[in-house]
Amino acid sequence: MKPIDTIIVGGGVIGSAIAYYMSARGMKVMLLERDRVGSQATIAAAGMLAAQAEITEAGPMFDFARASRALFPQLATDLRDLTGIDIGLKRKGLLRVAVTEADVIEIQRTLDFQKTAGEQAEWLSTEQVRYKEPSISSEILGAMLVEEDSQVDAPELCSAFAQAAAVLGAQIVEFTEVKSLLFAQRRISGVMTNVGAIYSDKVIIASGTWSGSLLAQAGLTCPIYPVKGECFSVLSHVPLVQSTIYSHGCYLVPKKGGRLVVGATTTSHSYNRKVSLGGIAQLLEASKQLIPGIVDTEWEKAWCGLRPQTLDGLPYLGAHPHWKGLYVAAGHYRNGILLSAMTGNLVADWAEGKIEKNLSLESYRVDRHDNVHCEKEGVPS
Ligand code: FAD
Ligand code: GLY
Repeated sequence: MKPIDTIIVGGGVIGSAIAYYMSARGMKVMLLERDRVGSQATIAAAGMLAAQAEITEAGPMFDFARASRALFPQLATDLRDLTGIDIGLKRKGLLRVAVTEADVIEIQRTLDFQKTAGEQAEWLSTEQVRYKEPSISSEILGAMLVEEDSQVDAPELCSAFAQAAAVLGAQIVEFTEVKSLLFAQRRISGVMTNVGAIYSDKVIIASGTWSGSLLAQAGLTCPIYPVKGECFSVLSHVPLVQSTIYSHGCYLVPKKGGRLVVGATTTSHSYNRKVSLGGIAQLLEASKQLIPGIVDTEWEKAWCGLRPQTLDGLPYLGAHPHWKGLYVAAGHYRNGILLSAMTGNLVADWAEGKIEKNLSLESYRVDRHDNVHCEKEGVPS
């Protein structure tokens, strides 16, 4: 049996994307997930690929997000060919809707920025919005239409990444928790799990909100904290909208079978995984303002997940500055589904010794908080 090139810790969309892209390049990877693949933040996600609607200022995230969004059409085909899974890529555009005068000003500013950046986006009047989406309230003040912002089904995307990786030779190991990192001669040598040690000279930490404690063992301070998000879904025989509707207070994402996902609340530093009635009431109120007819739909379910947020809102992407072979890909906060494809590609590039020249990776450095302690007590050197 070929030795394992790389251990990936965490089987959310980020770890699974990395497993897929590395396997596609012929590397032998083992993904370790303490629960089921995709069972944490990933399963909660609405699946928007909202590179222009959610990232509204120039900077490395905007470039990264657009580059990642561009990979999805081909990715959808490749993953279906390998696994038979349809990731539900829907390219019906996104309407960022203004409900207040303040929204109009903010969205117009975003629109100007998008045009300066060379991206497509256009302002639609209330009448134009309602011509496109008749269920939208006549009380709204207009919207920015972004044709390129699309969406996928997040749980299917993650399953497809993991299954495609397995088809290509990866070992996907569920219910196996990494307890600690193993080091030898100034490099990583593997991980200790609840079922014993597994050795490899490359380890990638992709454990979302829970990455910080493992990285602390390598003397790295990469604070990642949970931002709880609650959602609910409803069903209707005739879909209420075709496009994704995004506004202050909530977004609505139409899925197949007349399902409509309504999200999402944001509660920082909460590990509580219970859905609150207050959270759902807040979303219902906001969604009614956008689509009054939502009150006539059938209730399906509610859920929540913990978004992995960082101190400056940017993910940690890169190599540990001292421990060779240890990499991090975590902290994708609200955009992990969108950023998964590019993150997977990027990590596969590192593993092949290539450096992605077009993206400003400096901003994502894992030691950007400048507080790395290589000789940490308890870590063998
Ligand atoms: P996770 O999915 O949390 O995966 C981390 C995995 O690591 C978990 O499965 C966990 O069990 C495992 N793990 C942790 N510790 C260990 C260990 N020691 N050993 C082994 N395994 C371990 N993003 C978008 O792009 N578009 C959206 O529309 C969108 N909507 C969202 C809506 C909501 C309500 C929420 C909560 C999030 C949304 N997001 C969205 C954000 C997106 O879900 C996250 O950014 C993404 O899922 C993060 O993926 P991840 O793999 O880093 O984390
Ligand atoms: N990106 C949507 C959310 O995190 O709720």
